[in-house]
Amino acid sequence: KPKHVILTPNLTTCHKSLSDADRPVYCCPPKRESLEPIIDFKFPDISEPIRVRKPSHKVDADYIAKYNRAIAIMKSLPYNDPRNYMRQANMHCIYCTGAYNQQNSNSLLKIHRSWMFFPWHRMMIYFHGHLIGDENFALPFWNWDSPEGMFIPDMYLNGSMIDTQRDSSHLPPQVADINYDYFERGLGPEDQISTNVAFLYNQMVSGAKKTELFMGCSYKSGENGFCDGPGTIEVAPHNALHTWVGTFYSAARDPIFYAHHANIDRLWNVWNELRGNKPAIEDSDWLDSTFYIHNEKSQLVRIKIRDVLDSTKLRYAYENVENVWLNARP
Ligand code: C2O
Repeated sequence: KPKHVILTPNLTTCHKSLSDADRPVYCCPPKRESLEPIIDFKFPDISEPIRVRKPSHKVDADYIAKYNRAIAIMKSLPYNDPRNYMRQANMHCIYCTGAYNQQNSNSLLKIHRSWMFFPWHRMMIYFHGHLIGDENFALPFWNWDSPEGMFIPDMYLNGSMIDTQRDSSHLPPQVADINYDYFERGLGPEDQISTNVAFLYNQMVSGAKKTELFMGCSYKSGENGFCDGPGTIEVAPHNALHTWVGTFYSAARDPIFYAHHANIDRLWNVWNELRGNKPAIEDSDWLDSTFYIHNEKSQLVRIKIRDVLDSTKLRYAYENVENVWLNARP
């Protein structure tokens, strides 16, 4: 009987891959990660302050200036340094396009369109947030599920936060269509907002009653392990807003990526709270799935999904905001 293999990348296999537009891309690190020492993830000490992520339309000028400077520094680091801004984006590219094979298999490893979606992105933005080099710094979240947050936040319109690939017809004051699919609905602001709120109720509550519907399908290791069944939120607002912003393929090069994913990460917590924080998935194939991500000291860290299920243990939290859509039951 073959040994049971969990989903984990084989770090010696990084290769050319295909973007979502089927363009060949090469996102691999310059040095062989497989030759680097690897350390196991450890929870931060409980004496560390809880970093509170705030809505990006509510942060102050000092915060924005500090974050802008941090991004500018990350952009100026040599590509050899895993903290380099483009390296961060390319790590997303590696896992997005399947640039690693799985351990003991020729199958590609991909982290979208399945139950890998929420935990993998939580890991990525967790480590990214620590690169800012301030133990009180917390990433902002793009609060697009709240009427005041349904615009590209102002902080992403200046300095190192700009990405020129964005769709210029979707800049403020345009209200986001959180279920966008390359088709302009042409609704006025009020109607677009209420359409968004009703849609969120569906994605978070009425359409997400079963675990697989919200979390996505069960992706396991090996030849036949891949499943293609993204959860409600992954399809929209997640995919839809990447498309609406206009930077889908190169998503993680746009600083707004981290705020977009922070809100998705927050909604994962909200969905869990709505079901009384009962463990949603107890399958050890999922819990033990393992990834490798560099930390702020440029050490390569081995981390499992079971390590990231409780954001309090990771010493971060979200500022409490009203989830307006909770009252939008049709
Ligand atoms: Cu990995 Cu928003 O995508």
